[in-house]
Amino acid sequence: MAFYHIRKSIRKLPGIVIKAVSIPDPEVTEGFGSRERAGEICEKEGLKSVLLVTDKTLHKLGFYEKVKASLDERGISCAVFSDISSEPTLDIIEAGRKAAVECGADCIVALGGGSVLDSSKIIAACAKHPIRSVKHYLHKFALVSGKTLPMISIPSTAGTGAEYTVGAVVKNARGVKNSTVVIGLNVIHVILDSELTVSAPQSVTVWCGIDALSHGLEGIVADVKSQDDDIIKSSECVKLVFENLTLLIDEPGNIEARQNMSRAAHYGGNAINKQLAGYVHAFAHSIGAMYHIPHGEAIARCMIPVMCAQKDVCAEKLAALSAYCGFADETDEPSAAADKFIARLAKLMKDCGVEGGFDNLDEGDRETLVRMIDNDSINYSPPKTFTDNEIVAILDRIGRGE
Ligand SMILES: [Fe+2]
Repeated sequence: MAFYHIRKSIRKLPGIVIKAVSIPDPEVTEGFGSRERAGEICEKEGLKSVLLVTDKTLHKLGFYEKVKASLDERGISCAVFSDISSEPTLDIIEAGRKAAVECGADCIVALGGGSVLDSSKIIAACAKHPIRSVKHYLHKFALVSGKTLPMISIPSTAGTGAEYTVGAVVKNARGVKNSTVVIGLNVIHVILDSELTVSAPQSVTVWCGIDALSHGLEGIVADVKSQDDDIIKSSECVKLVFENLTLLIDEPGNIEARQNMSRAAHYGGNAINKQLAGYVHAFAHSIGAMYHIPHGEAIARCMIPVMCAQKDVCAEKLAALSAYCGFADETDEPSAAADKFIARLAKLMKDCGVEGGFDNLDEGDRETLVRMIDNDSINYSPPKTFTDNEIVAILDRIGRGE
């Protein structure tokens, strides 16, 4: 109970601290095949030598070739580093930094999912100061004097928003996943190219899309002081997912819907940077880590039970979002409008195939899970602080699939 009071008293702290972190404000280029504009963008920025970072699968698929050809065309030198794995380790980052130094990179172009994008942030941070070892950057905050190398991000999925979020998750020297806030992250441009997402398996499209929605939604209900512009971006993130995700289940090749989902994910990244995530993520991180399930699936299973449990304290914010999405009238009582939003959310989950209970949730795991959720939640400024009993009740609902 003592820890509950500590968590409650520091609940607003992360939302205050994040205001002091300089957040990247990249230009955005959108469109099917738009990664072929990387050369033009680099030339305009006066960049001469690029380290193109990607992973083995995307390298094998040849997705990097259009980027490299566009750089070659403009006479910009380009070395390719394709060794990023799904769970990048210190050694991989070190090799990436070495590749950047050896080719005299003045820019990192990152093409890939969350692992590639997060690894590239650390490479961009430490390539600028090659004397310090990479492990110096893997603390709670990666302090860079000045800014990191300029980075151009080309996400290959529409979900994480990792193309410009200041957080980076990579394994530290002990092989444990470590989340670092990269201070001075200098993402100058983001390219949202639906050609990279159009062939994704349906499960990836769905889990990534639900993850993107959760970023916008948790940003809106977070107890932080948000600028109007950030509220609009987060609301638009949620609306775009409602309008496009189920469309992609029926028509996976719908390019306009793909671009819209990439934009939704990008706005979701803004929410993570400026408004932070919340309990949906604290539950999903803990359940995902314990039972080894994809982040998006864990988010999908936790979203409704967590939102129902905190709905009353953020009913007005949910009501405004409900009206923005066209689910409620401005004249509705906040609580009724919030209920309408949650009902639509439940329908979206059902349409995406998220049904039934989560049988893995073992009674014996409850105590550990509660501790993990408590610990993770202190990174955010959620609308309320749950007691351990409330967390257990939410876990029960997740288990029953309610
Ligand atoms: Fe997420």
